[in-house]
Amino acid sequence: MTEIVPEVLISEEQIRNKVAELGGRISADYTDVDDLILVGILKGSFIFLADLARELTIPRSVDFMALSTYGDSESTDTDGAVRMIMDLRRNITGKHVIVVEDIVDTGYTLSYLLRNLAARQPASLKTCVLVEKPERREVFTQIDYLGFSIPDVWVVGCGLDWAERFRTLPYIGVVRPED
Ligand code: IMP
Ligand code: MG
Repeated sequence: MTEIVPEVLISEEQIRNKVAELGGRISADYTDVDDLILVGILKGSFIFLADLARELTIPRSVDFMALSTYGDSESTDTDGAVRMIMDLRRNITGKHVIVVEDIVDTGYTLSYLLRNLAARQPASLKTCVLVEKPERREVFTQIDYLGFSIPDVWVVGCGLDWAERFRTLPYIGVVRPED
C-alpha cells in the first residue's frame, strides 16, 4: 500500500472549535430537555459523536444505527437506495432526538433516516452534521446544526473513510481519485 497523506482541508483545531460551538448551541437549545438522545450513524459518525457528546452540558444518551452502503466508500448517488442493517436499541417515541452524521453528500442517507425516525413519533427530531457538500445535493435534507460546507471533493478523517482508510485521522483531509 502506498503512503498517502491526505491534504489538510479542515484542521484539528478548526474541528475542535466548531464541535465546542455546536455543543454550546445544542446545550442552550435543549436546556429544558432531561434526556436528549443522540443517534449516531455508524460507522462514520463515531468520532464526531464522541467529541460532540462530551461538549454537551445537558443530560444526554447515545444510541446507534447502521446503514448499508454500496462498495467500500461509495456515496449513495447511484440510485439513492439505503437499507438499515442495525436499528436503535431504544424506543424514541416521545423523546427528543438529534441525528448525528459525519457527512451529507447527495442527501439520500439523511432523508431516509429522517423519514424512518419521524415515523416513530419522537417529541422532536433534528440533525447535526459535521460536513456537507452543497454542490452534490440531490434531495432536500434538513440540517439543523452544521459544522462545515465543503466543495465537491472526497474527504477523510474524523470518522470519514476512503475504502475504510483514514477514519481516525484527527483532521479532515482530501484524497484525490488518482492517489
Ligand atoms: P449521501 O450521498 O448524502 O446519502 O451520503 C452517503 C454516504 O456517502 C455518506 O454517509 C458517507 O458514508 C459517504 N460519503 C459521501 N461523501 C464522502 C466523502 O467525501 N468522504 C467519505 N464518505 C463520503
Ligand atoms: Mg456515513
